[in-house]
Amino acid sequence: MDYLIPYGLEWANLLVRWLHLITGIAWIGASFYFVWLDNSIRPPAPGSELARKGVSGELWAVHGGGFYNPQKYLVAPAALPKELHWFKWEAYTTWLSGISLLTIVYWCNAQAMMVDKAVYDLTSWQAIGIGFGSLVLGWTVYDLLCRSPLGKHDGALGLVMFGFLTGSAWLLSQFLSGRAAYIHVGAMIGTMMVGNVLMLIIPGQRKLVAAMLAGQAPDPIHGIKAKQRSVHNNYFTLPVLFIMISNHYAMTYRHAQAWAVLAVIMAAGVLIRHFFNLRHKGRLAWQYPLAGAALLLGLAVYLAPPAPAKAAVVDPVQQFAQVEQIMRQRCVSCHAEHPSQPGFAQAPAGVVLSDATSIRQNAPRIYQQAVQLKAMPLANLTQMSEAERAIVAAWFTSGAR
Ligand code: HEC
Repeated sequence: MDYLIPYGLEWANLLVRWLHLITGIAWIGASFYFVWLDNSIRPPAPGSELARKGVSGELWAVHGGGFYNPQKYLVAPAALPKELHWFKWEAYTTWLSGISLLTIVYWCNAQAMMVDKAVYDLTSWQAIGIGFGSLVLGWTVYDLLCRSPLGKHDGALGLVMFGFLTGSAWLLSQFLSGRAAYIHVGAMIGTMMVGNVLMLIIPGQRKLVAAMLAGQAPDPIHGIKAKQRSVHNNYFTLPVLFIMISNHYAMTYRHAQAWAVLAVIMAAGVLIRHFFNLRHKGRLAWQYPLAGAALLLGLAVYLAPPAPAKAAVVDPVQQFAQVEQIMRQRCVSCHAEHPSQPGFAQAPAGVVLSDATSIRQNAPRIYQQAVQLKAMPLANLTQMSEAERAIVAAWFTSGAR
């Protein structure tokens, strides 16, 4: 039965990832919608009936064949409506499925997915401890910063948080493999976001409702605090979404200064988000997305691989035999229809390297992953040497015959 464990984990991976994506879309979609709504509503005419009712802003929208007229009450309507919709389960389910996925993909396979012996030789439990600890520490530091006097200055808090996240990325990358360091920074941010919902936003709203049920005027401070955290979450979204897909881009997390690469991409995300938030308030501030685009362009230039050295002329048949031998020794334990590497149920990313046709077909990807990025073999588990990478490089640059 043991042989079915990796296969079972693969199914768990599929279902949980699917769920994570769906709930993440629901959560971030709602976050985008409500921040857009908040920025787009306009105050009603003074003295109008809406203003008298306590409406602080409203807008008209058309969607799906109908007209909508949302109105925002500051602090609350005169009476509590019979039915009140809350938004919390999309956040909680996103976090729970995210942690499950982190456990299935990373923590259950720590030696392959989290440890890179060229970075630091950790036991699986040490790696998991660092990963888990980073989530707890991240929330604690962020929450304390928000509650400190710094929490009253949005811009300064934003800069300090950016420094904290960049520092965390640096620290994690001193111990974990690049991809694991990235995903744990993402999980840290995700934990802060859900912590905001669970610990601040929902309890604040509960207090508003409780005060109204008790017939008292609700204290606006609860609304203000919840709003601040909700805006933080909005600025976290673009960075966290990049990190969630970052594992497809070894050119970022494999870089020697991967933490700095991440900082640049996160900054670009925040700048672009800021543009949209201002735009919905009616301001067009192109300097922000242009600065974001400039950062990404600069990064693309900076990360470009060097031109390959001119390969010596060799016998192509003999050269390919060498490459095949290297693939057999260093790659096929994972990249086969039925991998022998524990923890792998089938060829990762669908890449099979056990026969000549597949090797030739995958030549550009092999060159990219094993030579340019050195992202493969994963965590260099199979100890591919520099000389072997040079042979693969020479084969590819002379036409991959
Ligand atoms: C320990 C297992 C393991 C070994 C050994 C290994 N790989 Fe991989 N490989 C993986 C995993 C896991 C992925 C999927 C990575 C992901 O999801 O981003 C992968 C993905 C790939 C991809 C697809 C990357 C993409 O996103 O397009 C290529 C190409 C690749 N490996 C080539 C190689 C080569 C060449 C070797 C040998 C030099 C090798 N791998 C050795 C585990 C391994």
